[in-house]
Amino acid sequence: IGQSLEERCNRILRDMEGSLTARDRVGIQDFVLLDAYTSESAVLDNLRKRFNENLIYTYIGTLLVSVNPYKELGIYTKKQMDIYMGVNFFELPPHIYALADNVYRTMLTETNNHFILISGESGAGKTEASKKILQFYAVSCPSTKLLDNVRDRLLLSNPVLEAFGNAKTLKNDNSSRFGKYMDIQFDHMGGAVGGHILSYLLEKSRVVHQNHGERSFHIFYQLVEGGEEDLLRWLGLERNCQCYSYLVQGECAKVSSVNDKSDWKTVRKALSVIEFSESNIESLFAIIASVLHLGNVTFVADSQGYATLNNSPEIHWLSKLLGIPAQVIQVGLTHRKIEARSEEVLSPFTVDQAVYAKDALAKAIYGRTFTWLVNELNESLANKVSDLFQKTVIGLLDIYGFEVFSVNSFEQFCINYCNEKLQQLFIQLTLKSEQEEYEMEGIEWESVPYFNNKIICDLVEAKFKGIISVLDEECLRPGEATDMTFLEKLEEKMGGHAHFVTHKLADQKTRKTLERGDFRLLHYAGEVTYKIFHLQVMRQSKNAIVKHCFPSTEPDSKKRPETVATQFKSSLVGLTEILMSKEPWYVRCMKPNEGKKPGLFDDVLVRHQVKYLGLMEHLRVRRAGFAYRRRYEIFLQRYKPLCPDTWPNWKGTAAEGVECLVKHLGYKPDEYKMGRTKIFIRHPRTLFATEDAFEVCKHELATRIQAKYKGYRVKGDYMRQRQAATKIETCWRGMKARREREKRAWAVKVIKRFIKGFMTRNQPACVDNTEYLAFVRQNYLTRLKENLPKTVVDKNTWLTPPPIMQEASQMLRKLYTRHMVRRYVQGIMTERKAQLQIKGLTSSIFKGTKENYPHSVGIPFVDTRISKYSVPVVKYDRNGFRPRFRQLIYTGSAAYLVEEAKIKQRVDVKFFLSQWNSPRVSVSTLSDNFLILHVQCEDIKQKGDLVLQCDYLFEALTKLCLVANKHNFIKVVQGSVKFDIQPGREGFVDFKSGQETMIYRAKNGHLMVVSMKLKTVWPFNSQNEQIHFLNYY
Ligand SMILES: Nc1ncnc2c1ncn2[C@@H]1O[C@H](COP(=O)(O)OP(=O)(O)O)[C@@H](O)[C@H]1O
Ligand SMILES: [Mg+2]
Repeated sequence: IGQSLEERCNRILRDMEGSLTARDRVGIQDFVLLDAYTSESAVLDNLRKRFNENLIYTYIGTLLVSVNPYKELGIYTKKQMDIYMGVNFFELPPHIYALADNVYRTMLTETNNHFILISGESGAGKTEASKKILQFYAVSCPSTKLLDNVRDRLLLSNPVLEAFGNAKTLKNDNSSRFGKYMDIQFDHMGGAVGGHILSYLLEKSRVVHQNHGERSFHIFYQLVEGGEEDLLRWLGLERNCQCYSYLVQGECAKVSSVNDKSDWKTVRKALSVIEFSESNIESLFAIIASVLHLGNVTFVADSQGYATLNNSPEIHWLSKLLGIPAQVIQVGLTHRKIEARSEEVLSPFTVDQAVYAKDALAKAIYGRTFTWLVNELNESLANKVSDLFQKTVIGLLDIYGFEVFSVNSFEQFCINYCNEKLQQLFIQLTLKSEQEEYEMEGIEWESVPYFNNKIICDLVEAKFKGIISVLDEECLRPGEATDMTFLEKLEEKMGGHAHFVTHKLADQKTRKTLERGDFRLLHYAGEVTYKIFHLQVMRQSKNAIVKHCFPSTEPDSKKRPETVATQFKSSLVGLTEILMSKEPWYVRCMKPNEGKKPGLFDDVLVRHQVKYLGLMEHLRVRRAGFAYRRRYEIFLQRYKPLCPDTWPNWKGTAAEGVECLVKHLGYKPDEYKMGRTKIFIRHPRTLFATEDAFEVCKHELATRIQAKYKGYRVKGDYMRQRQAATKIETCWRGMKARREREKRAWAVKVIKRFIKGFMTRNQPACVDNTEYLAFVRQNYLTRLKENLPKTVVDKNTWLTPPPIMQEASQMLRKLYTRHMVRRYVQGIMTERKAQLQIKGLTSSIFKGTKENYPHSVGIPFVDTRISKYSVPVVKYDRNGFRPRFRQLIYTGSAAYLVEEAKIKQRVDVKFFLSQWNSPRVSVSTLSDNFLILHVQCEDIKQKGDLVLQCDYLFEALTKLCLVANKHNFIKVVQGSVKFDIQPGREGFVDFKSGQETMIYRAKNGHLMVVSMKLKTVWPFNSQNEQIHFLNYY
């Protein structure tokens, strides 16, 4: 914040300095900054400089001085409005929009009521200023359909009021001939929700008489110039202003600056937008027309000198338009009604009296119509939007300015008295209250001399001694009161008053400027000489037609009637009360010249206005004092966010809080003073910087609050989500628990059934155990499927069946074994088959008989044991080369040539085949490799039995069986084997097991064969499945 504030302050200072250096040319924009602030000439100079640069606005603090430029400056565009919307008062060049905006925003922030007093001479630009303010609000206020409706009515009430209440005068082509106070009501959001208009003393005399160069109220000309043919015909009017005696006296029915035709259209449109009914509009124009007709009524004197009416067409139209019998009108215009006791007596008028009564009637009709119009407008503007919320108002007071003509009548007297009153109010609200406030707050005050016009106000309005009082008395006094007796009475009462002069009272020199029937008031704004009022004017009209027209509003004749002057006085008192309850703002309008000319700055004229508008006093007060003051509470309330100690709440008194706050903001001691209840700030810029800081701070606060709120909202969302989550979770858990319970219940049932089944498993099939048994079966089968023996020889692997599956298991085992065998057999090659068949043969001979047989099982038999390689060859003798059949045999270490012919012993195969009761071959049961071949000893060719040892015992013997194609000739013998050494001579071979293999001739002459005991356990595992296979055969 610090930096941006500093930057902003610097910029503002630069701007201010910039405008200071430019002041030689354009002057300064706030008189408070004027060095020679006590000099009227300096003020005038500054105004002139600015005027010449088309800068018509200048401030004195918050008071706006405006000089009528009499030309379009292009400074009231929508763009300009946007520029001034919501901007600090002192940040931009002075403008009526800046003031309007400042009032509006102060009203919104402080929620109180305000009024803008627009004062100045006639033609100085007051009405324009008030319109500009209204237009600014119309654009800058919040807009809704309903509010826009109110806005349109507020805006359009102006052309209607101006048509009926404004006229061309010498001073101003659009001079307001009535005082206007308009309330604009705002709701708490700043929307314009309604309005109310108070009107003050319409200059009715203008209806019947206009000075040279002046006109009656615009509406007459608008109607005659712009009214539709039909309408005019219906009203009996000619389209020519010259036809109407009430419109020709000023001899200027046509004005170049006024377009009656188009204004008529505007007014017609406005009337319908404001929702005047067609019949009301008709009646309204009927009255306007009737005033014109009335003006044309002429009287002639009869023989007695009394007024009589020509049988003129006007009476006909009057009767038609006002709806009054012609007779009544006729009598009413020519007779006065005198009430004598209980009787009413008609006394005839002279011609003069009749003319006077006619004019009075015209004025009364017009005056009351105007009042009616204002009431209608108020009805239309009444707040229909909201009654609920608090409303604040901004009042716009556009009152006729101080006026001096060559001839000044009663109306000028009222107007000037009104200005006198407002000046008094201004004095009270600013100068006097300013000084008083300083005193009250205990702040040093350098006294500012100013002229207090209370003395003039008193001169006019004081009870019993004031001019109005005297006037009342004279008017209501029985007996003959004339204008001259009234003047004498005034001289008698006011004689010696510094502000009252008559021909008689004046000194020699002044007397020359005064006529005998005149009296002169020294107003605060200047001297005005009034023609002594015709007392007749003041009397309440007793005219029959007026009574007929407005019977209910006639004051009760029994009561002492109020004169117009008294009525006006009370309405001003009412106005003062309205204004005193509100915060004042001022716009001081000035006219630069009397000729309504652009670019002409009449020093004398302006100097005069500067003086009587009290600008010098105001300026002096401003300079002596402080630009800004606020109650501690309000100041603290607004700016407390700027200091951490005072935000959000200050515990001590408001004054202490403000002290703390301004210390924190770095106010210099000479920049502010602490009063009893208020803080006083000397320079606008100090406040301005503070306001800027507040602007920035406000946004930050808003962001913070927003963040908090968002957080709160998000937290709410989160809580809701969490709740929802918990709910879902609960439901889900519930559902899961229920499922779990169902599952468990089911499980319990199943388990129970299972257990029951288990317990009854051995009983015959019944309800209880079928399921269990089915399960057991299935379970066994499935398990079996996974645990089947992998090989044919695996006899151990077979899942133990449950009792009920015993039989099935056996059958399955058999089936499966068969299946495996088949598979195995199908997979065996031819050679292997042969080999195995041989092995099968061996098995049939030795299985279970010879101890080392199992060891032979794993070793496949070969077809020949001649090591490595043998091939039959023919050998040629070295000598004589006789071929001999030989066998060439390679072993691992040599090559042998073996002669076939050298057979040592031959046993014919037939020998094995022959039927014989003793075995041909014997082997022991033990693990030796001996075989005894029992050769038939009777055969002398045989040398005897052969005792042989053969490493491939089983192979050799099996092959022998194959050769012999028989195998029952082999006997496996336990203990010893008898054999024939030679026929008739026996030998023995003893077999036994021992620690090591030994073969020796025992002492008994037997051959002892000791073989190592071998375990009978099969040395093979499933690796050699071909061999295992043999076990089954
Ligand atoms: N700000 C302005 N810019 C241009 N012309 C203006 C301005 N103020 C007033 N005038 C001119 O001066 C005339 C008189 O102004 P008006 O407001 O009717 O005076 P007042 O109400 O004080 O008698 C207007 O009709 C208009 O021509
Ligand atoms: Mg005006």
